[in-house]
This record gives sequence, structure tokens and C-alpha cells, in this order.
Amino acid sequence: MSPSFQLVSESQWPELCEWDSLCFPGEAWNEKMLRTHLEFHAGYVWLETEVKGYALICETPWEVEIFRIATLPTYRKQGVAKSILAHLFSTFPNKDIFLEVKEQNLPAINLYKNMGFRILETRKNYYPDGSTAILMTRKP
Ligand SMILES: CC(C)(COP(=O)(O)OP(=O)(O)OC[C@H]1O[C@@H](n2cnc3c(N)ncnc32)[C@H](O)[C@@H]1OP(=O)(O)O)[C@@H](O)C(=O)NCCC(=O)NCCS
Repeated sequence: MSPSFQLVSESQWPELCEWDSLCFPGEAWNEKMLRTHLEFHAGYVWLETEVKGYALICETPWEVEIFRIATLPTYRKQGVAKSILAHLFSTFPNKDIFLEVKEQNLPAINLYKNMGFRILETRKNYYPDGSTAILMTRKP
């Protein structure tokens, strides 16, 4: 089965909850947060026989914000997140893309730099655990 990039379907909402717990231990969104996000915004999965990763985004007329991007632990370091970002870029070819990432999340920061994002600013004490956020952006 060739890989595909698809919108999260309503039947996948319960699984999304499980994926988020696996990918963000201690910081997973609960079912209500995920449902609310998907009702008002959008989510995509990377499917290759089974779902290997996902991204939750918010699109406005001017830009796209990535709220979450994750690869299921078993499939990391195989290019899944790169593929998801590449598909987001081609889905929104004319929009600036923004995201925030914890300063200590080096795998994610490397991924974003690798895919053409640059640092816009840092926000100290931004997250509930006191860590700094790095705001990054990529122009089309
Ligand atoms: C960050 C994350 C999404 C990367 O997913 P992935 O599918 O493993 O990433 P890829 O295989 O596409 O790697 C792409 C690039 O990211 C960087 N990268 C990925 N994992 C890395 C690691 N463990 N250490 C350092 N750099 C890493 C590298 O630059 C890599 O390019 P390279 O293979 O040419 O070196 C994944 O580790 C993850 O899901 N983490 C938990 C959730 C999270 O923190 N999400 C981001 C914040 S919202």
C-alpha cells in the first residue's frame, strides 16, 4: 500500500486519543480537547498500511499554525514527520506556517530547521512547566 496523507476521519478520533498519549506522555490532549480541535480545525494522518504519524493544524485565511505533529514511537527516524511536513507545505502552498516548540525538544527543532523553518522569537516561561517556547515560521 502506497503511503497517503489524509484528513483524520471521525472514526479515527478515539485512536487519535491513544496516539496522542503515546506521543506526548504527560502532555497528551484529552478526548474533549482533541474533539474540539477537530470540530473547528483540522488534523491529518500519515498512513502506510497503518497510521504512523499525524498533525493537528489550524488554517486561517493568511497562515497555518501547526499545533501538534508526531510520529508514533515505533516509526521514528524513518522520515515520517518530514513527509507530513512536505505534504502540509503542498496542501497550503501559499501560506506562512507557524509553530511553537519547547526549547528542549531537540528532535523537533532539528526537524523544523531541516524542513526550512527559522526561529522568529523565544518566549520564556511559556509552558506550564516553566520551559521556554521557540516560535518558528516557514514562508512558502
Ligand atoms: C519530533 C518528531 C515528530 C520527529 O519525527 P520523525 O518521524 O522521527 O522524524 P523524521 O524521521 O522525519 O526526521 C526528520 C529530521 O528530524 C530530526 N530528528 C528527528 N528525530 C531526531 C532525534 N531523535 N534527534 C535529533 N534530530 C532528530 C533530524 O533532523 C531528522 O533528519 P535526518 O534524519 O536527516 O537527520 C518525533 O520525534 C515525535 O513524534 N516526537 C514526540 C512528539 C513531539 O515532540 N512533536 C513535536 C512537538 S509538537
